[in-house]
Amino acid sequence: MIFGATGLLGKALTHEWSGDEVVALSSRDVDIRDGERVREVVRKHTPDWIVLSAAYTDVDGCESNPDKAFAVNRDGAVHVAGAAKAAGSKMMFLSSDYVFDGKRTKPYETEDPRNPQSVYGRSKAEAEVRLLEALPDCCIARTSWLFGVGGKCFPDTILKLAATRPALDVVNDQRGCPTYAGDLANAIVDLCHKNASGIVHVTNAGDCSWFEFAQEIVKDAGLSTEVRPVSSQQMSRPAPRPAYSVLSPASLRLCGVEMPEWKDALRRYLKERSS
Ligand SMILES: NC(=O)c1ccc[n+]([C@@H]2O[C@H](COP(=O)([O-])OP(=O)(O)OC[C@H]3O[C@@H](n4cnc5c(N)ncnc54)[C@H](OP(=O)(O)O)[C@@H]3O)[C@@H](O)[C@H]2O)c1
Repeated sequence: MIFGATGLLGKALTHEWSGDEVVALSSRDVDIRDGERVREVVRKHTPDWIVLSAAYTDVDGCESNPDKAFAVNRDGAVHVAGAAKAAGSKMMFLSSDYVFDGKRTKPYETEDPRNPQSVYGRSKAEAEVRLLEALPDCCIARTSWLFGVGGKCFPDTILKLAATRPALDVVNDQRGCPTYAGDLANAIVDLCHKNASGIVHVTNAGDCSWFEFAQEIVKDAGLSTEVRPVSSQQMSRPAPRPAYSVLSPASLRLCGVEMPEWKDALRRYLKERSS
């Protein structure tokens, strides 16, 4: 059972998941803020696995609407965990690099302390803690910098801007791991089949700054747009972004799963986008 099946990852998950029966749900089918409705649908289908990809993902929107952020991202997750427990289903929760403060300079391991700096990050961090209490054998997959054909994402924005502007300013002081929704979806299916539990970091291999990511996008798309590095201060946003949110692949390797390099993933995304 997939909550959030109409989102960027949810669409990839629905597309990639084969060989098992899949119940794909949008917010119109079930609003996860409605605990009774969540229990009803989970009880009806009693799935082996529930993947909770649904979330309020507008990071800046969460700053101005914290009530909604906590109601969906934390309380909604607790509702799903309760329903999973009652039905005997295993649960996979999608979490984020934003649970960390971004002040480190080496990749974050799963056991590093959470210290979220934004409302979105706090809502995800609190959900993680509550889920591990309610359902100790759940699996928490933290990912980052998601891109794919199923929705708005950074490469799509860069390509649209590059088509109309001679130069683009992109921040060069935030580092992370771009992650292709199709690759993440395959890893999630694999983790479910392997009966994974605990916290796992799931991103494409390698890391970069947004500036380096944009340079690669423009180059691979065969465009001549100039990409110029700027600082986060020059591009102020309502929610603080972690300066360094590279997630270590060690936990994923322990599960026997390897992810392709982000540059390879980007080339496959560009192919998929143009087909
Ligand atoms: N995007 C990233 O860079 C990123 C990075 C790290 C972690 N994540 C996490 O990865 C997961 C997938 O992200 P995404 O980018 O695929 O998200 P997305 O494209 O924004 O999709 C969000 C999904 O959640 C559903 N949803 C929103 N509010 C809901 C509610 N109250 N009840 C039920 N469903 C609700 C939406 O349904 P409707 O279409 O019906 O509104 C949609 O299917 C999320 O948990 C996100 O926090 C994302």
